[in-house]
Amino acid sequence: MMSPAIGVFDSGFGGLTVLRALMERLPRARFAFLGDTARLPYGSKSRRTIARYAVQSARFLVREQSAEFLVVACNTASALALDAIQDAVPVPVLGVIEPGAAAAQAASRTGDVLVVATEATVHSQAYTAACRARGLRVLEKACPLLVPLVEEGWTGHPVTAEVIEIYLNELRAEAAARGMNPDTLVLGCTHYPLLRPLFEAAVRPGARVIDSAESVAQVAVQLLHGRAAPAGAGAPPQTEVRCFATDSVEKFERLGSRFLGRPVGHVELIDLGE
Ligand code: DGL
Repeated sequence: MMSPAIGVFDSGFGGLTVLRALMERLPRARFAFLGDTARLPYGSKSRRTIARYAVQSARFLVREQSAEFLVVACNTASALALDAIQDAVPVPVLGVIEPGAAAAQAASRTGDVLVVATEATVHSQAYTAACRARGLRVLEKACPLLVPLVEEGWTGHPVTAEVIEIYLNELRAEAAARGMNPDTLVLGCTHYPLLRPLFEAAVRPGARVIDSAESVAQVAVQLLHGRAAPAGAGAPPQTEVRCFATDSVEKFERLGSRFLGRPVGHVELIDLGE
């Protein structure tokens, strides 16, 4: 069976955590991944700028890489620009917010959920809206120090663990002040799955940590049902991946392997304009 070409993009290489989850579930699909590393971070920018950047990435993948299905592997772009992306390209576009909220709903017993994300994602209240629509109470917190720490490669560093502890203590105190009893934490940024062990060590015993990369990959498999052979469907895996970046190709090749869980190989430098 010929799988559709799947385009995946992020502001940087954090979205490789989403690509990794997709590749595990669709081992014979063809992927093109674009990291807009020249313009990272999106998380501190305005909706207008994020939408402009994200639309350029989406158009590159559809027009120049013939992507027939797009996954926005960036919480910030999903939260602020999903409509703009969907309007700009003639293929189905899947963002990470709805799958993340659905996974939180499935995981939470108390119905109270915490979300950690970038400033822009939190400001957009996209997770709040998606969780409330599912009957959940939700509290979001921006954790702006975490993306730079991941970019620095400090994914197991005691300083990063301390920063996470401080953020979560503040978030829990605010939740308690509102009478919430949260039992689920959504990692609402594609860099944060690299910090999952630190988050798991910092949450209360029994609390669930939701990785929106896993959730979006599951939904992509459902949406592509019948068009892309899933894992375990017979023929040997032969995933094709092409990676593109708008800057920092060497860093992408070096650090990207951590996100992808295997060497990213050659990364092609492209220019999306201003
Ligand atoms: N990819 C972004 C996200 O998932 C994090 C990095 C950035 O701020 O651009 O929200």
